Amino acid sequence: MELTTEEKEMLEGKHGAAVKKSMEILTALGDIFGAKRLIPVTSVQIAGVSYHNLGDAGLEYLAELAKDGKTRVYTTLNPAGMDLENWQELGIDPEFAKKQKLVIDAFGKMDVITTCTCTPYLVGNKPKQGDHISWSESSAVCYANSVLGAKTNREGGPSALASALTGKTAEFGFHLDENRQAQVIVEVPESPKNVMEFGALGYAIGKKIGKRIPLIRGVDKADLEQLKSFCASIATYGGTALFHMDGITPNKTTVPEEKVEITKEEVENAIKEMNDADEIDFVSIGCPHATIEEVEKIAGMLEGKKVQKEFWVCLARPIKEMAEKKGFAKTITDSGAKFACDTCLAVAPLKGRFKGIATNSAKGVYYGRGKNAFKTKFCTIEECVKEAVGE
Ligand code: F3S
Repeated sequence: MELTTEEKEMLEGKHGAAVKKSMEILTALGDIFGAKRLIPVTSVQIAGVSYHNLGDAGLEYLAELAKDGKTRVYTTLNPAGMDLENWQELGIDPEFAKKQKLVIDAFGKMDVITTCTCTPYLVGNKPKQGDHISWSESSAVCYANSVLGAKTNREGGPSALASALTGKTAEFGFHLDENRQAQVIVEVPESPKNVMEFGALGYAIGKKIGKRIPLIRGVDKADLEQLKSFCASIATYGGTALFHMDGITPNKTTVPEEKVEITKEEVENAIKEMNDADEIDFVSIGCPHATIEEVEKIAGMLEGKKVQKEFWVCLARPIKEMAEKKGFAKTITDSGAKFACDTCLAVAPLKGRFKGIATNSAKGVYYGRGKNAFKTKFCTIEECVKEAVGE
């Protein structure tokens, strides 16, 4: 790779040990993937924040970088293994909490903004169209590439952190326009109408086309909540990090020859496949993390009611603070439901605590099953709330 004088000095250690280590990671990746150069990034989002996934080895790695590493661009974190303030109420083990706090402290020491969310675009970390960025979380990467029109590969935790500490990434993959063109047209049977239906469509498309980049036709309109659900689902079930949706997403693309159709039956089967629970003892909304509009909707449905089951609303802390100012938070907690800021069902240590989960998130189904061995009920947000209050 061609490096500038400054980049060479960074690699030689003239800017400190953390920058040297980071440059080693970025140049190694660049060499593997045939990048010609490093390019500046404007935003970073780092995954691999939960102590549940990092363990002591990960914590030691972060502590080492934190000795002299400082972020050079706007950087936030993916969800951690617990609500950083309210972890006791969510039943988190104190020993786990201690380790999780050390992880967050290490990131904080590096000047990372320790807002832990998979929807950084809701809380100020929102790149512009055409920006090169280094994001990690699969639904956020898909949202950034497809809906915002920014350019990112799906980074691992260490490579995203390396970008944060250097302000650079290697130019390959989705940073190059030739790799961002649609590879297959996907015709949709009918336009989905709610978050759950967008999740089911993402499941059906993902299973059918895998990692390829689709040009999706037949969706009339989609709001933010529906697109974030769709991004999470298509990235989870197919692995794609970028899609084009005719009339909805901003990127230009060439039109591929291959065309596939998604049938109504495939979408219905996706919904059936995601429903296998007889008994629900846990309800979780906010995968990806909830918007203030979703919180408002939940508050409206819970007004004057009491939940009969453990009910988590997962969201970024700044969104909870907005909900507190608007009074939605009090309505929700008065019902017995809980906020799970900074975390979610996939990264919190929940295995063995519940049998069946109800969620409106197709991705939540995947992780509820895979990480926690829950049975799942996949339904609308209204049905989730009814399940929680026992109606
Ligand atoms: Fe976000 Fe956790 Fe879902 S990271 S996308 S809430 S599995």
